[in-house]
Amino acid sequence: MNVVEDTRRGEVTVRDLSKSFALNGQRLPVLRNLQLDIRGGEALAIVGPSGCGKTTLLRILAGLDRPDTGEVLIDGHPVRGVGTERAVIFQEPRLLPWLTVLGNVSFGLTVRGLTQAEAETRARHYIRLVGLGDFEAAYPRQLSGGMAQRVGIARALTVQPEILLLDEPLGALYAMTKLTMQEELTRIWREEKVTMVLVTHDLEEAIYLSDWVLVLPKAKGALPRLIEIDLPRPRDRSESRFVAMRKRLMAEFGLH
Ligand SMILES: Nc1ncnc2c1ncn2[C@@H]1O[C@H](COP(=O)(O)OP(=O)(O)O)[C@@H](O)[C@H]1O
Ligand SMILES: [Mg+2]
Repeated sequence: MNVVEDTRRGEVTVRDLSKSFALNGQRLPVLRNLQLDIRGGEALAIVGPSGCGKTTLLRILAGLDRPDTGEVLIDGHPVRGVGTERAVIFQEPRLLPWLTVLGNVSFGLTVRGLTQAEAETRARHYIRLVGLGDFEAAYPRQLSGGMAQRVGIARALTVQPEILLLDEPLGALYAMTKLTMQEELTRIWREEKVTMVLVTHDLEEAIYLSDWVLVLPKAKGALPRLIEIDLPRPRDRSESRFVAMRKRLMAEFGLH
């Protein structure tokens, strides 16, 4: 067994990454010379104003988009397109309406060559992990928004990724559901020992979930900032250090 490789599972490195888009015949720089190191098993939240490049960065990490310059390394290997060591979760889970929860979660595994029985056994494990054990026979239209998103998370986990990439996964949920889902995500992250990269516009969510917060600026010339969230877990939103951290993060945006 290679011990060195093992300790690097899920490590993400971003080197000198730049990305711009063409807009009305002009180049719109979005990410400029970004550097980032995420150790295996850590949780990083990406925050910043609308249009600052959060989704762009996540898509590049996922291998869905390519940077103009620079590169992304996973466990030291350059990313060339999508890979099974990474799974992406979007705001809308995009479930197949004609399949049950079990069908939706096991579908990708049969496509990958597992037998129906193997796929369903593994799918059931993750359906239970996200707390939907009693709903495997339900159809998407019978689920609440929070439940549908849990199915999406179970589906992403079935391929047993090292890295979970989430783009505002709780953004469409009601406030109460969101708080429960933040606790659930923390539990799943710890149990599965995955690296988590989460885009959110909710600063409290970023502090609750992550070890590090990357603040992407909108203003030209401003530099991204990386802030460590060194609060003990489980975290308490009303605890004074949590509140102080929220104030500090809001100050990054000129808010008080
Ligand atoms: N495929 C694309 N073509 C052109 N412009 C794009 C494309 N994707 C994103 N952009 C632009 O890049 C900027 C960053 O977008 P995005 O990463 O989606 O921001 P965020 O997720 O932070 O709101 C925006 O100005 C957006 O209009
Ligand atoms: Mg976005």
